[in-house]
Amino acid sequence: MDKMWSGRFKQSASSLLDDFNASIMYDRRLYREDIEGSLAHAGMLKEQGIIDEAELKSIQDGMVQVLDEIESGAFEWKISDEDLHMAIEKRLTAIIGEAGGKLHTARSRNDQVAVDFRRYVLRKNNDLTKLLKELMEVIVYIAQRHTETMMPGMTHLQHAQPINFGFHLLAYASMFKRDIERFSDSRRRNNVSPLGCAALAGTPHPIDRQQTADALGFDAVSVNCLDTVSDRDFALEILFNISTMMMHISRISEEIVMWSSYEFGFVELSDQYSTGSSIMPQKKNPDVPELLRGKTGRVNGNLISLLTVMKGLPLAYNKDTQEDKEGVFDSIDTAEMSLEILREALKTMTVKAQNMETACKKGHLSATDLADYLVEHSNIPFRTAHFITGKAVARSEELGIDLSDISFEELHRIDERIEEDVMGLLALRHSMNARTSQGGTSTQTTLVQLQYFQDYLKGLDL
Ligand code: ARG
Repeated sequence: MDKMWSGRFKQSASSLLDDFNASIMYDRRLYREDIEGSLAHAGMLKEQGIIDEAELKSIQDGMVQVLDEIESGAFEWKISDEDLHMAIEKRLTAIIGEAGGKLHTARSRNDQVAVDFRRYVLRKNNDLTKLLKELMEVIVYIAQRHTETMMPGMTHLQHAQPINFGFHLLAYASMFKRDIERFSDSRRRNNVSPLGCAALAGTPHPIDRQQTADALGFDAVSVNCLDTVSDRDFALEILFNISTMMMHISRISEEIVMWSSYEFGFVELSDQYSTGSSIMPQKKNPDVPELLRGKTGRVNGNLISLLTVMKGLPLAYNKDTQEDKEGVFDSIDTAEMSLEILREALKTMTVKAQNMETACKKGHLSATDLADYLVEHSNIPFRTAHFITGKAVARSEELGIDLSDISFEELHRIDERIEEDVMGLLALRHSMNARTSQGGTSTQTTLVQLQYFQDYLKGLDL
């Protein structure tokens, strides 16, 4: 009968229940948040005259020892203690005696876990934005060196129009910037303190919630306690934000997998971030981007899992909610590792610019330029110009050449409104650099985008 809540029970809990009911195996990672929350609470209890100076002092001293035991590995984590909140309080009371029992005045594990988990998630929002920033810096750095490196831009995975590799990478910079914003927004919205909500309805003790909120670095005190002890939106938000970020990571990973194949040959991953085959000695496999793609499935699972746990729960706290933590921890760990390894894999990757440029010679990438020429030069409706250009593409196919290499005579024979001045326009580099509209792929407009992201990163205060 060593349970804190055993007063009304006549029999001891079965060990099967202990195993089933406990969260201590995984919630122990919240020990810092838990101890800080307790110290803030105790400080407030003293200010409000609920405990005295000596009791506060002994709680503080005792917590120093508990923290020390946890960090040195001496702390005994027992399944029968159920969760970290009870394990820590029990140990504190064993060290300091009666004052330890006063710590839980005007508090419940319901607001306690809400504080701990929320603060952990808020902190991780910050950590993830920092890692995203580092990833963006690498992407922008590579982009800067390749604003003139032509590659086939694709739609439907078919060659479409020539773009530059820097422009392509800056598309990912755009995605990761939005990811940073989502993590920061979520942090701002959810930075409110649950402490003092107690079990669900608040407390008759004369507490000061603002004081503990300030001590713990929250921006404000939560408004409604019934909501606060059962709200896990902050956890769902980080799961969704991680899923979206991993979806972006998965997309660039898929491109790296393709680009490093013989068929593409656009990039080569460094040996440091490639793997071999146990049977085929010649192989060099892109396991890193493949795993990044794969791990996206796992974080999506965690999101759906918590959404499903939360759906249909009556107010306020229900034990179902204890299922909130493992998936969140797993998604956060996965996201942190993924951001780091993607950053390093990109940093050490070789870009084969020549192969990218050669690939542009396939697929008549400047066909749209011929159509645009006909519109502008001869005032032909775009639909008709599209049709005439189709004929020129078909003729190039017959000749076994790319449209950018077709002769003027051939073009003129297809439509006599096509004149000599078209020739420079069909050159691939010209085609790329003609796209100077805002946000377009010309080197000039890519440099504007590059500057935008460089300024953003410089101004980012995390
Ligand atoms: N281990 C619990 C959890 O993670 C802490 C809160 C328990 N509260 C309760 N009333 N049983 O959700």
